[in-house]
Amino acid sequence: MPTTGDALNATQLDPRDGDAIAAWASSAQELIDAATTQAELRDAKSEVFGDRSALVLANRMIGKIDPKERAVAGQNLGGARKELNRVFEDRKALIDAQAQAEVLRSEGVDVTMPSQRVPVGSRHPLELLIGQIEDFFLSMGWQIGEGPEVEHEWFNFDALNFDADHPARQMQDTFYIDGTTVGGVDEGDASLVLRTHTSPVQSRALLEHGAPLYVAVPGKVFRSDALDATHTPVFHQIEGLAIDKGLTMADLKGTLDHFSRAMFGEEAKTRLRPSFFPFTEPSAEMDFWFPQKKGGPGWIEWGGCGMVNPNVLRAAGLDPDEYSGFAFGMGLERTLMLQHGISDMHDIVEGDLRFSRQFGLYGKGR
Ligand code: DAH
Repeated sequence: MPTTGDALNATQLDPRDGDAIAAWASSAQELIDAATTQAELRDAKSEVFGDRSALVLANRMIGKIDPKERAVAGQNLGGARKELNRVFEDRKALIDAQAQAEVLRSEGVDVTMPSQRVPVGSRHPLELLIGQIEDFFLSMGWQIGEGPEVEHEWFNFDALNFDADHPARQMQDTFYIDGTTVGGVDEGDASLVLRTHTSPVQSRALLEHGAPLYVAVPGKVFRSDALDATHTPVFHQIEGLAIDKGLTMADLKGTLDHFSRAMFGEEAKTRLRPSFFPFTEPSAEMDFWFPQKKGGPGWIEWGGCGMVNPNVLRAAGLDPDEYSGFAFGMGLERTLMLQHGISDMHDIVEGDLRFSRQFGLYGKGR
């Protein structure tokens, strides 16, 4: 048993008594050596070397003893102090090293431990497709445009040459917005809609950039359809608009053929069938030739297109005698379904990771 500090300091040390000092010093050494933590060592230090320790008290007595005996007394105490200092420093080095090793051990990282797996998500195939389409148009030197999903009726219809009572306004079952404030700005009597197509961005892009202009606009659109295997009230379109001097339907056809090959493979091509849209004249429905069509190669309807109606150019402040152009628009869900043989729209809108993961991180053809 190491001597306790109390017992140690209960001793009144006579500095002249070498044997007593040696005995006390050996008890003090035991006390120091018994310390196993930095806190215990601190306590031992104050017992052995502190102001009220037997060593310090004995030292004070030296002044009071016979001067002849002082040298011996000084040697006794000095020798004991020196030895105890060494013992203390050794012990301290040992305990510090142990504490350091403990820190290293407790803060260590076991790189072989199995990690907790955080399930990663997946990019939605529509997002992948939009990225591919943007790359395609950028590679032809076009720019990518965007516009608001909550749109002015004027941009969604009027600027695109829809008459006020044009049946096309009802043809597309439109979501109208209550209230007249957009982004904190009072819009007065203007009616707002969830845009029914990406075509309003044609006018916005022309007003913003002027002509010549080559712009592709992928975006979300809304119609009051019920969700079923082939319809969804929220879907996506890609809009294309090219305005320049001297553009013809041959430029439109060439662009569509090129785009169809990028989407459906080298053997794809397009054909146009006469149709009607208020914002194009002439207008056409566009089919593409799809060798991988279910049940054998054939034509599949893909979207609408045409030469931009002069009234659309006028609404954007352009002179139709100077500029002409073409436009087209197709559905992206439909494009994705055709590319991958997806037969049910639910798979695209439900966001099930087991569906999205099949497309990988980069999508088709990368
Ligand atoms: N906006 C049309 C729709 O949603 C698609 C369309 C047809 C876009 C002809 C065009 C176009 O740019 O020229 O049905």
